[in-house]
Amino acid sequence: MIMKNIKINNNPIGIFDSGVGGLNIMNEIHKILPMENIVYFADTLNLPYGSKSKDKIIDLSRKISFFLVKKKVKLIVIACNTASIFSLNIMKNFKIPMLGVIDPCIKFAILKSKNMKIGIIGTEATVNSNLYVNKINKIAKYNVYQQACPLFVPFVEEGIINGNIIDVIIKKYLDSLLKIDIDTLILGCTHYSFLKKALIKNIKKKISIIDPSKYMAQEVLNVLKKKSLISENRFKKNYSFLKIYVSCNEKKFKNTYYKLFNKKIFNVKKVNLEDM
Ligand code: DGL
Repeated sequence: MIMKNIKINNNPIGIFDSGVGGLNIMNEIHKILPMENIVYFADTLNLPYGSKSKDKIIDLSRKISFFLVKKKVKLIVIACNTASIFSLNIMKNFKIPMLGVIDPCIKFAILKSKNMKIGIIGTEATVNSNLYVNKINKIAKYNVYQQACPLFVPFVEEGIINGNIIDVIIKKYLDSLLKIDIDTLILGCTHYSFLKKALIKNIKKKISIIDPSKYMAQEVLNVLKKKSLISENRFKKNYSFLKIYVSCNEKKFKNTYYKLFNKKIFNVKKVNLEDM
């Protein structure tokens, strides 16, 4: 039954990341909000963000957000830790809601951790910013340990998410973190959620892994409800559309998508970020 007095908004949800990292967030959003249209932007030309300067990341995030606004999105999910860290506050002047991945991860890590020892793995830029550590310490005196894992992103972008090489790299990066008795590990880079199975296999201990994908989808639902931005298509399942834009090499993106999800994707279009 269609309820009266519910405001509707059929404009799409905008999501962006440097590459395939935000796709798990996108899929989780689609799972709980199948009626919502989605526009995803992957800045494959400028990947990886993790080795870029703060100014460069802000500049790119701004350009992508303007592009998404031109596509008439009603809300933007910054499905990238590195971009969320540097850009979220600066982009408060956009007239639509902007959601970053950091706060939801922290919220759930704190709920999960019993011994107050939290590990964070992320890009070099994320780790060097210390934002996770500072935010967590503002809440309570947790012991927070960080580790940058710069090789993870290129492997995920190649669609390589398991096997011997991945095991070796995981062991190398996580060795010192696991010697400390952390009980919670934040995946502080959206690309790493593709490595979750390999991480669990190699960690061999009971550790809560905080993957932002599900939390972000819930966050999007809450904001859409609160701001009356839900699409009316909710009464017609599968009515929604998905459009993916990349800033270079759409063929590679499609190939990686296939390797990651064992499913073909067709609607990927290359656009020039400099023209936006
Ligand atoms: N997926 C991104 C993040 O969450 C960025 C990875 C990169 O491009 O370095 O930080």
